[in-house]
Amino acid sequence: MPGAAAAGAQVGHPATRPQSDPDAGADAAARSARIATLDWAALEDDIRACRACVLCERREQAVPGVGDRQARWMFVGEGPGAEEDQRGEPFVGQAGRLLDNMLAAIGLERGKEVYIANAVKCRPPHNRTPERAELTACLPYLERQIALVQPTLLIALGRPAAQALLDRDVAISAARGKRFERKGIPVVVTYHPAYLLRNPLDKAKAWEDLCFARRLMGGEG
Ligand code: URA
Repeated sequence: MPGAAAAGAQVGHPATRPQSDPDAGADAAARSARIATLDWAALEDDIRACRACVLCERREQAVPGVGDRQARWMFVGEGPGAEEDQRGEPFVGQAGRLLDNMLAAIGLERGKEVYIANAVKCRPPHNRTPERAELTACLPYLERQIALVQPTLLIALGRPAAQALLDRDVAISAARGKRFERKGIPVVVTYHPAYLLRNPLDKAKAWEDLCFARRLMGGEG
């Protein structure tokens, strides 16, 4: 659907618009409604052409997502880093290697029963944390990915992903070990692999969280 990408490209930068702009809310609602109708090909085209927030300005490329489009497990990270920005695939750097090990620890494999996406699809400069307006601008894409995959379980990796999936700010230390829901789909929150690389002592907690997620998948949670 070539028109969809072009329409996406015409949206301004809601992230930088003055809040008093009376058209901002209507534009955002129309954009969300349009994105909610896209099929996979049109969605990925739209993401690659997106100029809805400032993150488009310094990206090499947008990074839509990767994996099994009928996955039962959907992992959501924060946003692409330098390697992901170069290669166009989420979690291919050092944090990605740890994520692959975390998947393997619960018997999963990238691409099989697992879909991986990010809360924002474009790399934040210097790998800074995405801002709320950027998460909001990118949320329709994540929503559409979730609607298309229809996972049995969502796992938020780190605080921005949890914020995007739960529509509120949470501290990982307080949210882990609990079962949340997004539109009827259970959500589990755990540490981001990049955090775990810096804080290896917390890997044991992430392991507990993955075991909790696995129990929920088995219907025991
Ligand atoms: N960190 C993320 O949150 N996502 C990626 O794709 C890579 C690193």
